[in-house]
Amino acid sequence: MTISSPESSHPDRSLGVAVLGTGRLGGRYVEIVKHTPGARMAVVAEPREEATASLREAHPDVDFAGDFRDVVGRDDVDIVVCTLPHHLHYDAALDAAASGKHIYMEKPLAAWLSQGEEMLEAARKAGVKLMTAHTQRYFPQVKLVKSVIGSGRVGEPVMANDFWHFPYRPQTRPAWMMDRRLGGGLAQMATTHQIDRLIYLFGNDMASASGVTGPLTHPEHTGADDSAMALLRWSSGRAATISTWGWRKGAVEYGAELLFTAGMARYSIAYGGGDSGDNGVWLADEAGAGWRKLNMEPADPMADEFSDFVGSVLRGDADTPIPQAHGLLVLKVLEAIEESSRSGREVQLD
Ligand SMILES: NC(=O)c1ccc[n+]([C@@H]2O[C@H](COP(=O)([O-])OP(=O)(O)OC[C@H]3O[C@@H](n4cnc5c(N)ncnc54)[C@H](O)[C@@H]3O)[C@@H](O)[C@H]2O)c1
Repeated sequence: MTISSPESSHPDRSLGVAVLGTGRLGGRYVEIVKHTPGARMAVVAEPREEATASLREAHPDVDFAGDFRDVVGRDDVDIVVCTLPHHLHYDAALDAAASGKHIYMEKPLAAWLSQGEEMLEAARKAGVKLMTAHTQRYFPQVKLVKSVIGSGRVGEPVMANDFWHFPYRPQTRPAWMMDRRLGGGLAQMATTHQIDRLIYLFGNDMASASGVTGPLTHPEHTGADDSAMALLRWSSGRAATISTWGWRKGAVEYGAELLFTAGMARYSIAYGGGDSGDNGVWLADEAGAGWRKLNMEPADPMADEFSDFVGSVLRGDADTPIPQAHGLLVLKVLEAIEESSRSGREVQLD
């Protein structure tokens, strides 16, 4: 397998990108890569012809292949964007690291924490970057709340309640998503986003987690969970609850309520055209004045995140915009919630 030096192989310093997998998400990266300064689309790997037919037509300048294993070693590839089923993240990352390619890994980092640790070690040894793309911290709502916290105007964060309640139809999900051994389940798909958002806003000094997860709304699907409830504690004393609810019948609720020493905030995200209420961020930081909606700049989270990653690789930054170790911390919290669900006890994080 040819090993290319990602930053030196192209004099114009544009980085060639391979998109691995074009299922529900991956195809969107082709346009994103094409619009990202410093990046150029090289190849897409996807075995299902029907998933690439319209992409082939729209992008005749891009190569297409059937399997990610056939493209990660190509000389014109410097970065792999991995949007594969969770159980394939491990193989793809190890192959890419062995070929000297940087890795932009869709969340979660891996199906299991132990695999994630090996993947990061392989990337470190190969001298390539491996960032887990936890896109939701790039949502304008989350960015705005982060800047409110940074301004100090609401004091210190104390508690939060992060919720994501949405319609769940197991029959529309790919088979791997219905098998926890393959990284399936909504805790992997959705709760990992919520863990990420909370760590981003409250800090990475996580102390413990407890919770319940399982096939609670669709108990006939025993292979993977569809819901989760958790309590997270930080060493700083901060605490947050998470509820992930994949319902048969219900209403979309997607956002968080956050409590500070000198105020309150809440945000709401319109998801998949759902009925989660108005999109935005509200602040209550004056006694008796109630909620006030803040102005929110529009954003393109997936494009912004990928562009930040490419910029950091081109600059040769020591770490990635979302620190590489963050993907591991999210998995550690997730597995602590799962362990707590089995044991009924709170799990301390190292
Ligand atoms: N950031 C977000 O908001 C967001 C949203 C959805 C999905 N995701 C993440 O994106 C990733 C993919 O999720 P999805 O819902 O698109 O899954 P999916 O199952 O719809 O897509 C995965 C694709 O990988 C392809 N594939 C399987 N084996 C392959 C191989 N050997 N070589 C190349 N391609 C192969 C499959 O045919 C499929 O099209 C997951 O990590 C998921 O968590 C992130």
